[in-house]
Amino acid sequence: MKIFLDSADLNEVQAAAGWGVISGVTTNPTLLAKAEARDFKEVVAKICRLVPGGPISAEVISNDTAGMVQEARELAAIDPQVVIKIPVTPAGLAAVKQLAAEGIRTNVTLVFSTAQAILAAAAGATFVSPFIGRLDDIGQNGLGVVQEIVTVMNTYNYPTEVIAASIRHPQHVVGAALAGAHIATVPFKVLRQLFEHPLTAQGIERFQADWEALQDIK
Ligand code: E4P
Repeated sequence: MKIFLDSADLNEVQAAAGWGVISGVTTNPTLLAKAEARDFKEVVAKICRLVPGGPISAEVISNDTAGMVQEARELAAIDPQVVIKIPVTPAGLAAVKQLAAEGIRTNVTLVFSTAQAILAAAAGATFVSPFIGRLDDIGQNGLGVVQEIVTVMNTYNYPTEVIAASIRHPQHVVGAALAGAHIATVPFKVLRQLFEHPLTAQGIERFQADWEALQDIK
């Protein structure tokens, strides 16, 4: 499973890229607002440079197909790495179909059911993003939905890749991997948490102390 960073914060993208573990980035209007990314297109261009070759998702905000397609073309012109994030609505999937014919990659977002994912794949989505955390928040089984979607994509050989999104903690990442998701898009805080284990910290401390003791013996 690949790991993407779910962030529009350039410092976070730079740090995560430096750790060598991310191969793409997803953004959304909320993340851009949080990062105070006033020049949205410039931020997307900078993210592309920080994660060379990786898919970088940027979301459209129009509600109609023509508006989405227009926005998508403008975003795709920023860099070939840009993938267009489009909500799973009838207008959105009509845009996905049109963009697929133009060779523009899409990430169908705000997916909360297997039925929605099937429609996205049928329209020719490159990626589909089920939101685990938001489903858990309303008492549903987010990882269960990811598992179902992966099963359907594999059974019917859809080329659409599943991005496990709305990840809240490390166990969501492990669960997404066990469910067979192609990608997990992970917030910076959770990415940092993935490194952590008390025995790793203790082990480093112990090796350090023993090494220093050895220097005193010499
Ligand atoms: C997906 O691409 C979204 O950016 C994201 O994962 C949203 O998650 P949230 O529920 O933390 O806002």
